[in-house]
Amino acid sequence: MNPVETLRSEHRTIGVALDILEAICRRIERNWTVENPEHIDALVDFLMNFADKGHHGKEETLLYPLLEDIRTAAEGNLIWRMMREHELGREFLRGVRRAMARCRDNDPEGPEMLVYMAMGYIGVTRRHMRSESAILQDMGEKRLTKTDMERLANSFEDIEKNWFGPDQYTAYQTVPTRLGRYYIH
Ligand SMILES: [Fe+2]
Ligand SMILES: [Fe+2]
Repeated sequence: MNPVETLRSEHRTIGVALDILEAICRRIERNWTVENPEHIDALVDFLMNFADKGHHGKEETLLYPLLEDIRTAAEGNLIWRMMREHELGREFLRGVRRAMARCRDNDPEGPEMLVYMAMGYIGVTRRHMRSESAILQDMGEKRLTKTDMERLANSFEDIEKNWFGPDQYTAYQTVPTRLGRYYIH
């Protein structure tokens, strides 16, 4: 598959996970209880592995260095900004895990902390993916050569195979659809 399209399709999959996480937060806010902690655990696992390790891994090790080479002076600190947004997302996601631990310990502040961290993560990541998809369309499709695209596609496949167990990356893609049945109607 065209590697730019691969990344944009992954954005759509991650976007569904964010919609589910937001729906969960809205439910928690109704009475400040966490009803299905296993759903949040599954989403956090998906976001840490599929979104951060896999998708961000592809961007940080392969795509961004290429974009850095072809960016114009006017595009400034584009790559630095995108890396920083990944970092911010990671900080919020670590916060979600800490908040889940507090919820499990029946800490009364746990659910509020969980919603704060999750909504922070959702905001940063939605904005990031919107601007990144536009950059991909503009720079990726117009300025990367055919050879760049072929190399990217092959290296993406290597990451999927070597950084994950057999079929694990494909299996991760089904997580948002599976959980979506409970939250998105
Ligand atoms: Fe990104
Ligand atoms: Fe991305």
